[in-house]
Amino acid sequence: MDLKSLIRDIPDFPKPGILFRDITTLLRDPEGLRYTIDFLTQKCIEAEMTVDYVIGMESRGFIFGSPLAYKLGAGFIPVRKRGKLPSAVHSIEYQLEYGTDCLEVHQDALHEGSRVLIVDDLIATGGTASATANLVQKIGCELVGFGFIIELRDLEGRRHLPNVPIISLVEY
Ligand code: ADE
Repeated sequence: MDLKSLIRDIPDFPKPGILFRDITTLLRDPEGLRYTIDFLTQKCIEAEMTVDYVIGMESRGFIFGSPLAYKLGAGFIPVRKRGKLPSAVHSIEYQLEYGTDCLEVHQDALHEGSRVLIVDDLIATGGTASATANLVQKIGCELVGFGFIIELRDLEGRRHLPNVPIISLVEY
């Protein structure tokens, strides 16, 4: 299936000069949605990933991470922005273009040795994925890989990620 034909390109969103890859048109397509989840699952299985938990980053990582976890027989754990999770958290700060941001995960969600796969809809510069990797590695988890629907190759986000398998379904 041609997934690119289901991803809508929006020029100058959210800022002038950015070509936004909009996945809402892929999500609303029944065959496209099913194919995307099945394809991602198949690639994880082919890469022989053994996963206890899929970690999804707020917010579009939740959309793809949850059904992937279901298909892999794993649990799903949300990584959220500062102040959203109700129980005690582990936090990590990371650099943005201007200033810093913070990601959090529940302290009792992950343990040393948990085998985790980090999932998001898109990898651009790799800042969020890299911060999430640092967070789970700080806890002592075994990072088995990353899964993305879209990879923006020019931004070389892969270069900022640890040396584990990185799956992406569509490249621009
Ligand atoms: N996040 C960062 N860059 C993006 C883009 N071009 N489209 C959608 N999400 C993004």
